[in-house]
Amino acid sequence: MKFFVDTANLKQIKEAQELGVLDGVTTNPSLMAKEGVVGKENIFEHYRKICEIVDGDVSAEVISTDYDGMLKEAAELVKIHPRIVVKIPMIKEGLKAIKYLSGKGIKVNCTLIFSAGQALLAAKAGAEYVSPFVGRLDDISTDGMELIHQIRVIFDNFGIKTKILAASIRNPVHIIKSAEIGADVATCPLSSILALLNHPLTDIGLEKFLSDYRTSQSVSKVKI
Ligand code: G3P
Repeated sequence: MKFFVDTANLKQIKEAQELGVLDGVTTNPSLMAKEGVVGKENIFEHYRKICEIVDGDVSAEVISTDYDGMLKEAAELVKIHPRIVVKIPMIKEGLKAIKYLSGKGIKVNCTLIFSAGQALLAAKAGAEYVSPFVGRLDDISTDGMELIHQIRVIFDNFGIKTKILAASIRNPVHIIKSAEIGADVATCPLSSILALLNHPLTDIGLEKFLSDYRTSQSVSKVKI
């Protein structure tokens, strides 16, 4: 399973890249706004900086909701960098835009997926990725992971190549469950990736190894 970070924070993207496990980045207008990036020029420059840090796909979302507007934005976004993937919302106009863009060889990440039917439509239109929002489904007492499972089964039934990108990941358990089910990618906050590192027995074990080492060294010094 690939690991993407779901942020527009350059420091966090660099930190994830330096960890050596980063395969890509997803952003959305809320995440860009959180970083205080305002104005088209600045937003495009910010995407350029992200692409220079990470080797993999970088999703950049359109803000238009009409077909023509989405295509115009997509044409501008893909000029920023060859690794830009155009993020299109799961609405009727978006579906038509996915069909057109994928036909032109442009990679699309279809976002705001909350049902298997939406995922199937996006895949049929040629999306490279579908982004089911796990955490937001959990928020309304629906099992987000069950949706990942459902989409996996459907895509496997028909050999659909569209990649399942588990989004709205909120914790390390979401990441592990996504991997178990067979999501192709999990896009996560850096904190959830870092949380995978932690285990109390690792800390206790390391402390014991080091204290045994220190003890053995002081004993051998006494012998000399
Ligand atoms: O990739 C989609 C993601 O950014 C949504 O996450 O935490 O806002 O539900 P969240």
